[in-house]
Amino acid sequence: MTALAIPGLDHAPTTHPGLLAWVQEVAELTTPDAVVWCDGTQDEWNRLTTKLVDAGTFVPLEKRPNSFWCASDPDDVARVEERTFICSKDASDAGPTNNWMDPGEMTALMTDLYRGSMRGRTMYVIPFCMGPLDAEKPMFGVEITDSEYVVVSMHIMTRAGRDVLDRMGSDADFVPCLHSVGKPLEAGEADVSWPCSETKYITHFPETKTIWSFGSGYGGNALLGKKCYSLRIASVLAREEGWLAEHMLILKLTSPTDEVHYIAAAFPSACGKTNLAMLEPTIPGWRVETLGDDIAWMRFGDDGRLYAVNPENGFFGVAPGTNWKTNPNAMRTLEGGNSIYTNVARTPDGDVWWEGMEGTPEILTSWKGEQISPSDSSAGPAAHPNSRYCTPMNQCPVLAQEWDDPQGVPISAILFGGRRATTIPLVAEARDWQHGVFLGATLSSEKTAAAAGTVGQVRRDPMAMLPFIGYNAGDYLRHWGEVGKQADAAKLPSIFYVNWFRRGDDGRFLWPGFGENSRVLKWIVERLEGRASAVETAIGRVPTVEELDLTGLDVRYEDVADALAIDVDEWRAELPLIEEWFDTIGAALPSTMQDELAALRQRLG
Ligand code: GDP
Ligand code: PGA
Ligand code: MN
Ligand code: MN
Repeated sequence: MTALAIPGLDHAPTTHPGLLAWVQEVAELTTPDAVVWCDGTQDEWNRLTTKLVDAGTFVPLEKRPNSFWCASDPDDVARVEERTFICSKDASDAGPTNNWMDPGEMTALMTDLYRGSMRGRTMYVIPFCMGPLDAEKPMFGVEITDSEYVVVSMHIMTRAGRDVLDRMGSDADFVPCLHSVGKPLEAGEADVSWPCSETKYITHFPETKTIWSFGSGYGGNALLGKKCYSLRIASVLAREEGWLAEHMLILKLTSPTDEVHYIAAAFPSACGKTNLAMLEPTIPGWRVETLGDDIAWMRFGDDGRLYAVNPENGFFGVAPGTNWKTNPNAMRTLEGGNSIYTNVARTPDGDVWWEGMEGTPEILTSWKGEQISPSDSSAGPAAHPNSRYCTPMNQCPVLAQEWDDPQGVPISAILFGGRRATTIPLVAEARDWQHGVFLGATLSSEKTAAAAGTVGQVRRDPMAMLPFIGYNAGDYLRHWGEVGKQADAAKLPSIFYVNWFRRGDDGRFLWPGFGENSRVLKWIVERLEGRASAVETAIGRVPTVEELDLTGLDVRYEDVADALAIDVDEWRAELPLIEEWFDTIGAALPSTMQDELAALRQRLG
């Protein structure tokens, strides 16, 4: 077959035969007007942001250097879990919690969708690396996309560009990630500011480690290095190779006596990872530094401890609720500029605004482009509840200096948490690894705006990974059990359960949260060091109110007691829900999980 004459296609700055062949094949299928190999330079950023401004997609923000506002199509604002597929050969390998389609069938269906889908657009080839480029085995990916928004966002979220291509040489393995917004342009047809398609597929082929995404421009659906590669495909790799790819923040906690602990924490989307990762402790002498806010890859080191690396290079954070009080370090990170804001509101003087931000402007342009007054409640929220900022990690003022060390950091404790108005205490410690895996396996949370669906509905979300496990959820829980057997129990991280979101009868949060969560972290590390006591309960070890350091905190004693309470009736009501969840997982569920459930039932009497 003779190569198509697409401008740019023959200017490949690589000799990698596999990459060249794939790019050629995709170009012939999608028929873009031009092909651009991305180099990751400032020049490229300037060129593409200018193009996005000219197209009406981006609005430059006068108040924020090199930063841009943008609004998505109102139907393209979150991850679409019901359009997300794991296409393993065997349906049982995708398991009961994932959507599945036969890989051959999906390939045929999506090939039809991709045919000509980039007509009238430029096709970009983005070489990227998840985790440090100087790792022993760098984790490469290449995303092909027809969206400039995706290119500039990938600049922030990953290590992308020429250095990556150079390091790949002519034979490195990489994860091919194909993305199209699915909106070809006919000759003379004007583009819209946020091209996307009603037809959406976010597809993973675990056997070939390939990602195909069609129809959406939203972060989690379109920035394929993030959820698709670093969680769904990486979880499959991790299972094959004996490590963990998890939906976790990584933080460094330093005590007043300079003891250092690294903590990883898994909370479902929009349940507090970014906030905890950048927390400003309210207790004197304690320090938190950030290593990651969304994803952790954890492997055993030669010393038998579990080491975590953050594969990302930027923060894709929930905007609403972020302010100088709740998350000052996120505000400072954003002050550095170089950021993209999606679906927040805009002020007349060229700044951004969202619900919860200090100072309520008289008049705003809402995320929908309407002129509104935020005090007029009939106007709906000015910023979409899942509006996001995308900002470089290296602007974070509390970034730990070891954040991009390819060796990672040794994890002392793993936290599992969700958003539950009842039942789940502020904090509880697991008895051992297996009990901790049970706590993670039964994690539940009220649904948030981060995914399309009904907000507030309680669902089980094992290890906060329900939407991100690239294989059978039962096998995933078994893998967690196996990982615990790989190491000396004394060297494994301790596992804790947390819930910042328990509410009183009147609906208010019982625990102040945010910076005050440092008090809970303090108890956790004092447990690790054998310096704090705990009460043995049916569900785990829980501090008394007295055991938490509440110095200087203006909070009602009864509220903290209620936040910590184990209500046996609430827990008995939880049992059938856990049972139902385990039934959903079915035959692949490890028997240890049923053993833990039986033991819990017995302890509850
Ligand atoms: P992530 O998506 O898991 O990273 O969650 P974020 O840290 O972005 O937080 C999501 C939402 O939960 C934001 O609106 C936060 O303001 C809110 N949030 C985070 N931490 C806390 C907390 O400790 N208490 C309460 N009440 N809200 C919190
Ligand atoms: P989040 O990340 O966990 O910060 O919300 C995005 C997502 O999970 O959709
Ligand atoms: Mn996430
Ligand atoms: Mn986050």
